[in-house]
Amino acid sequence: MASPKPAAKPVFTSKPGAAVLPPVRTGPPTPRSLRGFRDLLPADQLVWRHVRQVADELATGYGFGWIDPPVLEDVALFSRAAGRHSDIVTKEMFSFTDTGGENVALRPEFTPGVVRAYIEHGLLNNPQPIRVAYWGPAFRRERPQHGRYRQFTQFGVEVIGSGAAVVDAQLVAMFYHLCEQLGIAPVSIQLNSLGCATCRAEYRTELVNYYKPKRRYLCEDCKKRLSKNPLRLLDCKNANCQQHIAGAPQLLDWVDDACKKHFMAVVEYLDGMEIPYVLNPYLVRGLDYYTRTVFEVWPTADAAGSTAALGGGGRYDDLLGLMGGNPTPAAGFAVGIDRLILRLKEMNVSPAAPKAPDVFVAQIGEQAKIKALKLFERLRREGFAVSENFSKDSLKAQLEIANKQHARYAIIIGQKEVLDGTVLIRDMDGGVQEIIGYDKISGDLERKLKNGAASPIIEEGAVAPVEGETPVTAPEAEAPQPKPSGKKQRSSSGSQLSLPDSDENLVEGI
Ligand code: HAM
Repeated sequence: MASPKPAAKPVFTSKPGAAVLPPVRTGPPTPRSLRGFRDLLPADQLVWRHVRQVADELATGYGFGWIDPPVLEDVALFSRAAGRHSDIVTKEMFSFTDTGGENVALRPEFTPGVVRAYIEHGLLNNPQPIRVAYWGPAFRRERPQHGRYRQFTQFGVEVIGSGAAVVDAQLVAMFYHLCEQLGIAPVSIQLNSLGCATCRAEYRTELVNYYKPKRRYLCEDCKKRLSKNPLRLLDCKNANCQQHIAGAPQLLDWVDDACKKHFMAVVEYLDGMEIPYVLNPYLVRGLDYYTRTVFEVWPTADAAGSTAALGGGGRYDDLLGLMGGNPTPAAGFAVGIDRLILRLKEMNVSPAAPKAPDVFVAQIGEQAKIKALKLFERLRREGFAVSENFSKDSLKAQLEIANKQHARYAIIIGQKEVLDGTVLIRDMDGGVQEIIGYDKISGDLERKLKNGAASPIIEEGAVAPVEGETPVTAPEAEAPQPKPSGKKQRSSSGSQLSLPDSDENLVEGI
């Protein structure tokens, strides 16, 4: 039987037998991040930077320029674009009146800002279509859960100024290749056409006629949707409502000939490019601005716990006109980067670890530290992968860090080296050390890195230490054991030192 927990030490008792009071914390409460907002810590950054780099290369490869619309805009911009009855506008926007009395909102998505910028800066006068990509935070006050945050990152692209079906197909292909390049394919691409405003109006009437007799079986949200936003009835996740979706009229049966032709062309291009997709007649998307092609990308059905789209997009031919610009066709998509990264983790796909440093610069003593600071800067500018930990004074601690970082070489500067104009260069694999002139460091390092194994380089003017001599003179604690290596150490003929792998001899005299 487990022994009972020892009672907490009494902190304060007024009388024998009185309750033991915990220590009282004073001062303001420790700040915490807001619900749905999170920190991306240094450990998260490797994968985030990797995805960013792949996205950058993809966008550039497809001929996209970059755009950064502001995070804060007039609230009306977003409500006009997404639709007055959309979830984003009715429930999710971080909107407020600022101290100047302006009604503003944190962007819930980028598309309206990009469209505004296109109109405001007269990008219509540039060769069309305009292709722009973006990456940054967006904000929606949703109920936080796995893969759903109140601040999240989107990478997206918009092509403004072309209504061609080939643009839609290329956008879908681009998203697919992003997933492929990141190693998370196969993914499920769901595709549909919402037709244009004219054919959708007819469909809407048909849909409402279908749902009206079923109204009392619908969830409260869908009852509202029936009068305000009937297309969203097809998107309801409520189990009762879903039963009725299967029998609902399908939009594709109602789209007019021009929209049908456009959609057929999209599908043909996708087939031609061998991009897999699934036709989903009930895919409507949550934003009102879409016309014709819409698509969403989902992790494949076997994805454990994946209940949300990785991203989506489509055509929005009426939005520019609606925003007060010239009627201009456009299409785009946005990827939820937080979800993409969760998917990468679920699939155990990890980016390559960053390159180990070529060289670690270690120092002992104040004068040596100044010289080491300058050397670090010089090597960094020359393009070496160089690391350091100048806040440590112990050589042992510094070399331990170099070891942990898998640095190929360490350059050690002590007092004697400062006076001599030399440094000690240590092969971190074999523990072999040699002395070289300060001015010869770059060339020597380059040769060593190119040749792999350490080669004996006899440096003119380098002080070849005699066994028992002290190359680094500052008083210092013991240095760590070098990593065991199969490499044969060279004898001490020439300038190369062959030191026994002992702490005492790592740097003599320290
Ligand atoms: P959206 O479907 O609203 O489209 O958002 C795109 C993606 O952003 C979603 O599929 C999801 O991966 C991610 N996302 C959305 N909300 C959240 C959240 N709360 N937490 C984490 N990720 C989230 C748009 O935003 C359109 N502007 C896409 C577009 C561009 N259409 C045409 N051009």
